[in-house]
Amino acid sequence: MKLLTVIGARPQFIKASAVSRAIQAENARSERLHEVIVHTGQHFDANMSKVFFEELSIPEPGYHLGIASLGHGAMTGRMLESIESVVLKEKPDVMLVYGDTNSTLAGALAAAKLHVPMAHVEAGLRSFNKRMPEEVNRILTDHVSDLLFCPTQTAVDNLVNEGITGGVHLVGDVMYDVTLHYRDLAAELHSLEKWEVTEKGYALCTVHRAENTDDATRLQGILGALRDIAVEIPVILPLHPRTRKIIDGMGQPEALRGLTVLEPLSYLEMLRLEMSARIILTDSGGVQKEAFFHRVPCITLRDETEWVETVEMGWNVLVGADREAIIGAWQRPHIRVEVAQVYGDGDAAGRMVKHVARLSDGSKN
Ligand code: UD1
Ligand code: UDP
Repeated sequence: MKLLTVIGARPQFIKASAVSRAIQAENARSERLHEVIVHTGQHFDANMSKVFFEELSIPEPGYHLGIASLGHGAMTGRMLESIESVVLKEKPDVMLVYGDTNSTLAGALAAAKLHVPMAHVEAGLRSFNKRMPEEVNRILTDHVSDLLFCPTQTAVDNLVNEGITGGVHLVGDVMYDVTLHYRDLAAELHSLEKWEVTEKGYALCTVHRAENTDDATRLQGILGALRDIAVEIPVILPLHPRTRKIIDGMGQPEALRGLTVLEPLSYLEMLRLEMSARIILTDSGGVQKEAFFHRVPCITLRDETEWVETVEMGWNVLVGADREAIIGAWQRPHIRVEVAQVYGDGDAAGRMVKHVARLSDGSKN
């Protein structure tokens, strides 16, 4: 059975690593799944792409499409055209797409148009804000998917509300699989001394969402709050290239004053810094969840989240991008409750691969 995996952005490499590992485990029992990876090229810097393939032992892509740095229409359209050619050549039995980027939507449309059964990893998430490009990508992808692998019960409920019930599986969160698999190695390989910080003695921050980077008021609000926090404890900010370009373009060297600004980190470095942070501030979907996996309080620099459980359990607060609101959240203690296994048991990828493999037996999914 041939699986065609379409990935292109940093979080997708991380998620796909767990599924590739589960495919190899399934094949150790009975050799029957052959994965071909298509890298759309959306993320292309070595520290946004290659490092994850090396560090997480992701199989070398069969295809590199080299499509990046374009507007949404051009990027998605060119990816669709190129993926279609690959699908016609490879004739896969099933396609896998991940998350909610332009690479996800292009892969999903190619599968739907060529009638290739398609599985969506991280199906059913909603922010209910259609101004987010990701919300449009995930709604459209879910509506053409045959297998919908949901990380949470909330995601299953969202699909039911849109009339999608067939092929829906609550499997758990694949990023939780990756965290469990690598957290000991991250602690072993990377000492906090490397960043000159101590256990629970620093804040970790990431910012890359278009709604924050492309709105000067929001970006200034976030950076102002980070500078205020940095007066009290070190603030480590590994900068996404999107954010780096925009801050460089502002021509305000003082914007990052007092912050420990780093290049994007490898996954193991990021994991290491997450697990010992006193607090995490982020607009990333993945980083919000990882904060919870490590039981580190999180301040989310957005007005809504797809990961509502983290907020309900008190580990995450939604504050948006207002400087005073962020500082208020930083000063207020979080109140936390524990709910067992809300993101699964660390074997989401194993379950997904079993469902996919069942397609080849003709079993009902
Ligand atoms: C994309 C996803 C977003 C996801 C994020 C993960 C879409 C619409 N957005 O946002 O959902 O959360 O990835 O990180 O698909 N760039 C570089 N080097 C790189 C990668 C990007 O310089 O390796 C630059 C691009 O040239 C572009 C900017 O960063 O100018 C934005 O890249 P793009 O892939 O369009 O969107 P992201 O903001 O990365
Ligand atoms: N990440 C990383 N290095 C960094 C920043 C983030 O490895 O410098 C990891 C992070 O631990 C998480 C994933 O990238 O696993 C999240 O991706 P990102 O924030 O780019 O996208 P999102 O999850 O918001 O779509």
